[in-house]
Amino acid sequence: MSTLPNLSFFGKKVLITAGPTYEKIDPVRYIGNYSSGKMGYALAEVLADMGADITLVSGPVHISTNHPNIKVIFIESAIQMYDACMQVFPQMDIAIMAAAVADYRPAEYSANKIKKKDESLTLELVKNPDILASLGDIKNAGQIVVGFALENNNELENAKIKLHNKKADAIVLNTLNNNGAGFQHETNQITIILKNGAIFEFPLKTKVEVAKDIAECVLKML
Ligand code: C5P
Repeated sequence: MSTLPNLSFFGKKVLITAGPTYEKIDPVRYIGNYSSGKMGYALAEVLADMGADITLVSGPVHISTNHPNIKVIFIESAIQMYDACMQVFPQMDIAIMAAAVADYRPAEYSANKIKKKDESLTLELVKNPDILASLGDIKNAGQIVVGFALENNNELENAKIKLHNKKADAIVLNTLNNNGAGFQHETNQITIILKNGAIFEFPLKTKVEVAKDIAECVLKML
């Protein structure tokens, strides 16, 4: 007996960010982080399976997707991710920001490889734009914006502050205080905090199962 596919997101346009950003220092060096992109890609696949039309803005990762409902825009830096997101967001119903965006980038890019010289070298960094907060600022009443928060102290409190400051509709809190959860892992343990104050706590699960929980939550907000 075959079961009917769940197409709860049919016709919905969803922007998802995934992976790290690389901030170039010179032609051979960058500042990056250990994000694997697995959470964002799992979300893209799960929502695409549920009928959504996905635009996945991806930083450099070692995973890929060939789902027919997923269009991937590859970027490298936070500025490139910001530009891509700002361009497509007006056409979107939902945005889920799962990328680990670098908070800072080198103030200057050196077109030549920086030479080893003195005993110390100081790199000046400047703040990157906050993509989630920028979408929160421009979103209209019908659009839903979901962010992530990776915290290791005062987790719930910090996540609530993030939800408020970035004008998000929900924050997915990842704890760093759980082996097997978060960066580079196959599993994640999340708590979802909604704008209306509701809090949903989930056990440690695979990222695909976590993505399904997030999808269910977003569905209730539509
Ligand atoms: O402020 P923090 O980096 O902890 O916030 C995490 C959330 O904000 C994630 O959803 C992340 O994708 C998003 N973010 C962003 N642009 C940044 C920094 C974070 O979209 N520059």
